[in-house]
Amino acid sequence: MKMALKIWRYDPVAGERALREYEVDAPDWATLLDVLDIVKDKHDGTLAYRKSCRMMICGSCGMRMDGAAVLACKTRMVDIAESGHVPVISAMGNMPIVKDLVVDMGPFWGKIRAVQPWLQPGYSDSGEKEYVVSQKEMDVIHKESLCIMCGCCVSECNSMEADPDFLGPAALAKGMRFVGDARDQASVERLQAYSDEHGIWDCTRCYFCNERCPKGVDPRDAIAKLGAEAIEAGIDSDMGAKHAKWFVTSAKTTGWLRETELVPKTQGVVKSLKEVKFAMGLLKHGKVPPPVPPHVAKHVDEARALYDLVGQQDRQGADGIVQAEKALSRLELHADGEPRDPYGEGSFPAPLSPEESAS
Ligand code: SF4
Ligand code: SF4
Ligand code: FES
Repeated sequence: MKMALKIWRYDPVAGERALREYEVDAPDWATLLDVLDIVKDKHDGTLAYRKSCRMMICGSCGMRMDGAAVLACKTRMVDIAESGHVPVISAMGNMPIVKDLVVDMGPFWGKIRAVQPWLQPGYSDSGEKEYVVSQKEMDVIHKESLCIMCGCCVSECNSMEADPDFLGPAALAKGMRFVGDARDQASVERLQAYSDEHGIWDCTRCYFCNERCPKGVDPRDAIAKLGAEAIEAGIDSDMGAKHAKWFVTSAKTTGWLRETELVPKTQGVVKSLKEVKFAMGLLKHGKVPPPVPPHVAKHVDEARALYDLVGQQDRQGADGIVQAEKALSRLELHADGEPRDPYGEGSFPAPLSPEESAS
């Protein structure tokens, strides 16, 4: 069938970008990568893109379709072609473009290296017997271990767009893969390093990385696990950690988030004094609820009971997030009482529909 697509080409010699349209004959089963292969083989041999495995495991073929990162070899084209939509293919974001759809992954690998992605077991001789990791221990890092380092999450990361030095979702997910490894003895040092500027607490929680990851790693959840582990280890001097702790206290005591007290609780009283002028402006426009008497939510008992329940279960650090992952996977796998295929149709966010692209 006929498949059309537009590709943002980049000529590094002339320093010019141009949007070119191609139409090819491709089989129904063709993926985006197959279509690019046909373009290169039969229409324009100068097109540059990366590929290797063609089966969603090497992580080479990350690129954008209609502005959202995808693995080209995972993206079937038949529905898009039948709809008449002509998708726009471009290089991944947040990384310099080398040529056409090829980006410079140097900064990406630099950040992966920065989190020291190797096991530090604390001994040089592993002894006679192997170290058996239990299923419970493996559950903590199961998703993080699935990363194929394709860069799709980094491409869409809002924090990295604002701060190119932010460690980013892929590197932090890799960091969690070692912090959560029962054999690793450097967790505290790792958590201290990842809690520095440009680390865990600089994530804006936009969840784009979870949405675009083609392997279900859910890097934002990995960052949440790192935050929980850092607080559990007493590494909580960053404002982000204080912010999170205050939200827990606030929800437990009055059942809602008392934003008015957030600034002094997070920044300390002295630093907060600098914000008085700003606060007065907000107050004048009715944007600041009076701190006393504190507003207490109608069903505050439920919030307190939930807090107590979590406390009784003693799920500290990442364990609490692992518990939520399991609960969510049960919901996702059993719709209407029927088991559901997690990799079936609709399980992965599709590229934008024609209507969405046009708007
Ligand atoms: S976390 Fe997902 S999107 Fe990010 S590099 Fe790993 S596999 Fe790719
Ligand atoms: S949730 Fe955090 S790490 Fe993930 S894309 Fe958003 S800002 Fe980046
Ligand atoms: S070519 Fe290997 S992941 Fe697509």
